[in-house]
Amino acid sequence: MQRTLAIVKPDGVASGLIGEVVKRIEQEGLRIVAMRMEHLTRSKAEGFYYVHRSRPFFNSLVEFMTSGPCVLMVLDGPEAIPRWRALMGATDPQKAAPGTIRRDMATGIERNVVHGSDAPDTASYEVNYFFTGTQISS
Ligand code: CMP
Repeated sequence: MQRTLAIVKPDGVASGLIGEVVKRIEQEGLRIVAMRMEHLTRSKAEGFYYVHRSRPFFNSLVEFMTSGPCVLMVLDGPEAIPRWRALMGATDPQKAAPGTIRRDMATGIERNVVHGSDAPDTASYEVNYFFTGTQISS
């Protein structure tokens, strides 16, 4: 059993894609054990993407992630981390496989609709960054 963080980013929320993303998660058989909408502050977004702080796209990424509300989710299931990443597709929508969320809905490498943790240690960090234990209904 694995646990991972899923985010519908501000572009996905603004484009009315929350339902489509949730539908794909549920159809995949992953269990949503926590979910809330949050408009990230600058410091919350900077902290979340701290590992990317030296990248040239960092400021733009933080601007984008604070441009409107996100939907934050915790997903549970066997192999939840790679299964959610497979549903998302590659970071760059032009490189994402057909049928993935990013290929179907993203408009660019930054505005790529969704986020997912990439490994068990980052998943644990990211889930705990946004949710306390009592907010997760497992
Ligand atoms: P995400 O999976 O949330 O992880 C880091 C984010 O940075 C990524 O999705 C994109 O939104 C963004 N990102 C990654 N690479 C680039 C890039 N080359 N240019 C702009 N944004 C990027």
